[in-house]
Amino acid sequence: MQQAISPIDPNANKAEKYELLIKQAEAIVSSESDLIANMANLTALLKDTFNWFWIGFYRVDTESNQLVLGPFQGPLACTRINHGKGVCGEVWATGETQIVDDVNAHPNHIACSSLSQSEIVIPVRNEAGKIIAVLDIDSDELATFDEVDGNYLEQFVELLK
Ligand code: SME
Repeated sequence: MQQAISPIDPNANKAEKYELLIKQAEAIVSSESDLIANMANLTALLKDTFNWFWIGFYRVDTESNQLVLGPFQGPLACTRINHGKGVCGEVWATGETQIVDDVNAHPNHIACSSLSQSEIVIPVRNEAGKIIAVLDIDSDELATFDEVDGNYLEQFVELLK
């Protein structure tokens, strides 16, 4: 039986929200081993907590050497991204989290929606340290994400190992 998820206090500060979010995510992944099911619930948790514009995973497809759209919350999105292309493709290529304050000023950004203004992309690694996906979060406001988001979201995706 899945553990009940308690609602997050809307007045909590960002770090408090992340602390609770990570506990909830731990409860979810500890009772399910399927990666896609866990990715799906993790995007729902993030959407419920922060209500960002678009939250989703792109998974590495080794056959095509592309990122392919995985579980997400938000409007329709591009399905495939080439290695090194867009912020997602750059994060896959470099293995480094990227925070983009203004996507329109980022030359390599792929605009799936003209409403996206800022974004953060985090690499997702397996036990062997290989990048198997990226977590892409888009905001419809400028400069939404900072290092606090980066640090917590890196811990968050560790749970998928
Ligand atoms: N923002 C991404 C493209 C994916 S969509 O925004 C969902 C990028 O430039 O990599």
